[in-house]
Amino acid sequence: MSNRPGYAIQEYHDTRKVMEQLNALIKMPIRGIKKEAMEKYLDYYETKCQKSKEMIQEAMNYIPGGVQHNLAFNYPFPLVMTKAEGAYLYDIDGNKYIDFLQAGGPTVLGSNPPKIREKVKELLDTCGPVTGLFHEYELKLAKLVCDTYPGVEFFRALNSGTEACMAAARIARCATGHKNIVKMGGAYHGWSDQLSYGLRVPGRRSFGSHGIPKNIFKYTQEFFPNDIKSLKRVLRRNVLRGGTAAVYMEPVGPESGTRPLDYDFPKKVQELCKKYGALLIFDEVVTGFRLGPDGAQGYFGIVPDLTVFGKVIAGGYPSAGAIAGLKKWQKYLAGGLDTKKEGEKKVHKAHVGGTLAANPLSSLAGYYTVKEIIDSNACEKAGAMGDRLTKGLQALIKKYNLPFVAYNQGSICHLETVGTMLFSINLLKFWQIPRILKETTERQKMMQKMGAAYMAEGIVTLAGSRMYTSAADTEEIIDDALARFERVFQNIAEGEE
Ligand SMILES: Cc1ncc(COP(=O)(O)O)c(C=O)c1O
Repeated sequence: MSNRPGYAIQEYHDTRKVMEQLNALIKMPIRGIKKEAMEKYLDYYETKCQKSKEMIQEAMNYIPGGVQHNLAFNYPFPLVMTKAEGAYLYDIDGNKYIDFLQAGGPTVLGSNPPKIREKVKELLDTCGPVTGLFHEYELKLAKLVCDTYPGVEFFRALNSGTEACMAAARIARCATGHKNIVKMGGAYHGWSDQLSYGLRVPGRRSFGSHGIPKNIFKYTQEFFPNDIKSLKRVLRRNVLRGGTAAVYMEPVGPESGTRPLDYDFPKKVQELCKKYGALLIFDEVVTGFRLGPDGAQGYFGIVPDLTVFGKVIAGGYPSAGAIAGLKKWQKYLAGGLDTKKEGEKKVHKAHVGGTLAANPLSSLAGYYTVKEIIDSNACEKAGAMGDRLTKGLQALIKKYNLPFVAYNQGSICHLETVGTMLFSINLLKFWQIPRILKETTERQKMMQKMGAAYMAEGIVTLAGSRMYTSAADTEEIIDDALARFERVFQNIAEGEE
């Protein structure tokens, strides 16, 4: 698949080749950073990041673990940021970083774009951030998304991707009368009880989902990425266990494509959903307005039953979530009475809510962000920067003869140095679970060290292995980043060290 104007992906990765490389990587011992180089990197934090260190130490007295955002748990200690602008972040000690975290994905236009900021300021000066009643930008945003997405006829804003994933299950159960929900193993669909299943490592099931009684998962199952037979097995089994209401998937694969899928895999999933009367839920929290103006569904040419939005839907402003989809399913969300007549059939309402959901501030920020993404061809631009970054990393990996793997889905870039997220658990060998989880934890520690090294070189990544490029990136910024990555790669040891 090549040459797709408007989309972030110009050439879909060769999934088999990428998987071969990743499988080889996880069979190899860990290659870490040389001891003396790591000491130098750690020295950066001690000498250049003192204000951050002091603030986090104080925060430890008031905030569990010292930080409140999971992505902010950086080794050796979290840095305190004071400014995000375009492609850069600035910390409290005055250090500047190339920002490939992009707040975890919402800022496809780059951070704090002035055009959106000015509109937000105007709104704050006139209306204020919240009224609790209807605001015109709710309509504007809903209309724009409905006009842009093939699978969206009705749109309902919520506060987060987590909430929207929860709503999807409720709608699907009301609509189909089926009980089970099925997700792709390893995927993250927010932290709600019933979806905190099969996290990070496919086959993990409820292992490690602490604080959730096992019976919450009675109607949740997982299938394996890129393994259509495993989905078929689950769906077939569910026929005698209350049926399947919904199948969730991130169209590019779990964890934003950390486990890449074959191009035609989403289509195969859709065919099975149709066969077994389950709704296909595309979780486009990351891919929405990033892979293209009409998201992954536009790119893959698939109309899902329901679409989950988050992140970009509020342009980096708070309350980023929405459940959207075809009218025949979304109608279960309609406000008003709990049940209503539709011909002979009673339609039960899928109850959702949220005090701040669809507030004027988020709706306006979302509207102007989406409009700007479309008008400025931001997805394609950000994708081109992702391609440049990935190709550059691949060249460096080759130059230094490293076992690392770099690949991308447009502006979603992966740099796997230890393959922490690439393990899976064979369902028939469940006794392997503790060993595999131990190994992934060890590899994760090294991934954190890599993240610390990149950060000391002036690059912020997502947990040391994922990077989002944005339309604010330029060729010069990417080339500068590659020079910084090269300095880290020059310091890779033969073993763990
Ligand atoms: C694919 C996916 N789904 C759902 C969520 C949850 O969204 P939120 O953090 O807004 O609750 C995330 C968050 O990272 C995500 O990446």
